[in-house]
Amino acid sequence: MSEDSPVIAIDGPSGSGKGVITHKLAAHLGFHILDSGALYRLIGLAAKKHAISFDDEAALAEQARVLTVRFEPTGDAEEPLRILLEGVDVTLELRTDEAGVDASRVAPLPGVRDGIGELQRSFKQPPGLVADGRDMGTVVFTDATVKIYLTASAQARAERRYNQLKDKDIGVNLHDLFQSIQARDERDMNRKVAPLKPAEDAHVIDSTEIDIDEVFRQVLTIVKEKLGSKP
Ligand code: C5P
Repeated sequence: MSEDSPVIAIDGPSGSGKGVITHKLAAHLGFHILDSGALYRLIGLAAKKHAISFDDEAALAEQARVLTVRFEPTGDAEEPLRILLEGVDVTLELRTDEAGVDASRVAPLPGVRDGIGELQRSFKQPPGLVADGRDMGTVVFTDATVKIYLTASAQARAERRYNQLKDKDIGVNLHDLFQSIQARDERDMNRKVAPLKPAEDAHVIDSTEIDIDEVFRQVLTIVKEKLGSKP
């Protein structure tokens, strides 16, 4: 079965380049994409929309179970997916730092994580899936064909995020972003449920000193080796 739908798990902290690598790899292989971070961001956004308190785990878990989301291809390499929450386009809203911080507040709750478990696994369809997140290789797809863990220093990641958000005209400040990234790392790595860490069988790539094209080259070499002649 996994032969028909291999999963490539790409995990790592915020700003490590997972998103770009996931999209490039999926385009190269013709695979589907799971942006699991977007699902946690959507739960945070839906909670605010429905006035659900971030302290109310039962209501947040229910919100996760009934999440009504659609991912539509845009044909635009810069922003390849349009994300609709309950029929409304929230693509830009989801990319804000506030949405990321809200996501990292709902993500530690076991009920929330369980609530979207099935939804996440349903993305595994032929011809294959590239899954981007924090626990793709350690929890959701433990039998993934390839596991990659991307990382970089917090300073390098803050600078990349700054440039991305600035290009999208989303108001940001580098120092605030650096602090927010550090706080988010702290929460993601030290939580009890599905903490951010490399899977034992993950290939770890540190991109602090290398550019995204070189990261992609390294990832592709690993993937080709594992998938054999398929790519
Ligand atoms: O990847 P992204 O920045 O969109 O993720 C937002 C937040 O969602 C992360 O900081 C993390 O707290 C949470 N997350 C998670 N597990 C995933 C993906 C994201 O806990 N698989």
